[in-house]
Amino acid sequence: MKCRVCRGPAVIDIRRHNANFCVDHFLRLCRDQVTKAIAEFSMLERGDRVLVAVSGGKDSLALWDLLRELGYEADGLYIGLGIGGYSDRSGEAVKAFAQERGWPLQVIDLRDEFDYDVPTAAKVTKRVPCSACGLSKRHLFDKAALDGGYDAVATGHNLDDEAAVLFGNTLRWQTEYLARQMPVLPARHGFPRKVKPLVSLGEREMAAYCVLRGIDYIVEECPMAAGNKHLGYKEALNEIEARSPGSKHAFYFGFLARAAERFRDAAPDGPEESGLGLCTRCGAPSTNELCAFCHLVERSAGAEPVVLTTKGAR
Ligand code: AMP
Ligand code: FES
Ligand code: ZN
Ligand code: ZN
Repeated sequence: MKCRVCRGPAVIDIRRHNANFCVDHFLRLCRDQVTKAIAEFSMLERGDRVLVAVSGGKDSLALWDLLRELGYEADGLYIGLGIGGYSDRSGEAVKAFAQERGWPLQVIDLRDEFDYDVPTAAKVTKRVPCSACGLSKRHLFDKAALDGGYDAVATGHNLDDEAAVLFGNTLRWQTEYLARQMPVLPARHGFPRKVKPLVSLGEREMAAYCVLRGIDYIVEECPMAAGNKHLGYKEALNEIEARSPGSKHAFYFGFLARAAERFRDAAPDGPEESGLGLCTRCGAPSTNELCAFCHLVERSAGAEPVVLTTKGAR
């Protein structure tokens, strides 16, 4: 197996590109793909201060590394979600990563700072854990970025993630979600810019990137996500990809180039566009007196904490 660029020994084959790459040229390919996505979707400008949301998994740690390699002033933000041993281990991985490199990391722990955690919030609200989890993360990413004066929040969503979400939204024709499924969401009053610089790189590439760069990430997935629809969509797309390499990329980037624009009007107005007020407790834009996050905190705080078994919540 020879590198397509230098003909030296290759370490990875990328079927979508129908090519093999050596270590150096594979790492260069990853940096080039990120540079290209950032430029193509106007995600970041030179000198931007970026807050990278890091979970301890391969994608977000690789993203932090890549943004720093590309010269951005990128700091980390980790949210302790209180999902048993999974959260303990992911927190340790993120802290060790940041410490080894001397890169600034902000840690927000839901239990310590807001007196709740994701399993407990899920039980109290009687919704799937990912719903309380996503709501908490979005709110805290936004707040930390605004408070810290960052130009953008970057997350490690990769091509597999975005294609799977698109697949789910298309399958059910959730047009309001399709309208917002872009790799960059511009800053609006009260919300920072959100960017996903890894959209053109797949899961397998990100794992290889971490191994080759010596990044210790946690392989374990969130135990509360097991069996959810999103994982099913990923598996379905993996089967299609195996038979027809390049399908995921064509599906997602074809949507962005040829269809996304058509759904723009389906996006409901945010609180600020509809001229409504601010949360009386935290000041975030909100249609109600309390924003969804403060409402969740109020409902969950003080509830008996849910103890996780290896299978999930009890
Ligand atoms: P997920 O929703 O778990 O697929 O994660 C998507 C992205 O959200 C990751 O790539 C990270 O950028 C970010 N993220 C997920 N969990 C956390 C966390 N606990 N703390 C900070 N960022 C996170
Ligand atoms: Fe959010 Fe699993 S990471 S519920
Ligand atoms: Zn090479
Ligand atoms: Zn609030």
